[in-house]
Amino acid sequence: MDTAVDLSVDISGLHFRNPVLAASGTFGYGLEFTRFFDISELGGFCTKGLSLEPLPGNPPGRITETPAGMLNAIGLENVGVKSFIRDKLPPLERYDTHIIANIFGKTIEEFVAIAGDLNPHQKVSALELNISCPNIKEGGIQFGHDPDMTYKVVEAVKKISNKPVWVKLSPNVTDITVFARVCEDAGADALTLVNTFLAMSIDVNKRRPMLSNVTGGLSGPAIRPMAVRLVHQAAQTVDIPVVGIGGITSARDALEFMVAGAMAVQIGTANYFDPIVCVKVIRGLRRYCEENNISDIKEIIGTLEVREGQFLYY
Ligand SMILES: Cc1cc2nc3c(=O)[nH]c(=O)nc-3n(C[C@H](O)[C@H](O)[C@H](O)COP(=O)(O)O)c2cc1C
Repeated sequence: MDTAVDLSVDISGLHFRNPVLAASGTFGYGLEFTRFFDISELGGFCTKGLSLEPLPGNPPGRITETPAGMLNAIGLENVGVKSFIRDKLPPLERYDTHIIANIFGKTIEEFVAIAGDLNPHQKVSALELNISCPNIKEGGIQFGHDPDMTYKVVEAVKKISNKPVWVKLSPNVTDITVFARVCEDAGADALTLVNTFLAMSIDVNKRRPMLSNVTGGLSGPAIRPMAVRLVHQAAQTVDIPVVGIGGITSARDALEFMVAGAMAVQIGTANYFDPIVCVKVIRGLRRYCEENNISDIKEIIGTLEVREGQFLYY
């Protein structure tokens, strides 16, 4: 009897060999990790956020350690979409994994232009709209914190793109369900959440902020319980698939998101302290399924058991 566990999942018409993706901004353009492991083992990965033109990001310090996490204000430094297409995409052709292009713009027109540039390139499986970066003044958060703007940018990109459109939500909102619903109404094919939590850290000797940007985005294990709550709430709200992100370091952590309703997960900060963490999580998921006689990982998605009327979100 074939006892192989089926780890595959389907999201927005795409088939993923397993539900583990590397998260945007923590995995470069994928190529940087090929010396650590065969990235074809991944369900997929999200590129660093791509803008229409290259960006230098914020001045240093851009990163600082926090309890069980890190604070960053990189400011979306990236090579720009044209250089990505010219220099990064060709060497990625040989890897059999889904590439999700994480994109952002200062205006809706810029989002549309980037999506248009990526249309001819089949190696890019889907777009992930970053409307949730807390670390730059323009390009992201002004869309992700306004339901009207969220609707408009998703609708506009859907109109031009020939790829599935995922939308990455900000956790820094009062009611995640409003934004989840707006994205679904505007035609989004999937939701990914969460981006980093707006946060701040101070050097008390200098009485100065640790980051040049003053504030930054908190990520890593510190945010996981908050992310799980938001993912659960979003998954309860919409019918489109939800991809969970936030502080995942192990298969156990990934399973928490999947039981809460996530169809797949992304791993971010953990790549910094363990470049093969994604592979370990994939192996751990397979082991969990084997030990629990689960033949198909999809069986566990959204299986959280709660009593009738037990949800109390504040
Ligand atoms: C240094 C750094 C850079 C990031 N850059 C991006 C980015 O370009 N676009 C994006 O959508 N998210 C970006 N993120 C957010 C991550 O993709 C992820 O949503 C977040 O870090 C939470 O997951 P984690 O706790 O596993 O890191 C970045 C995160 C970090 C730590």
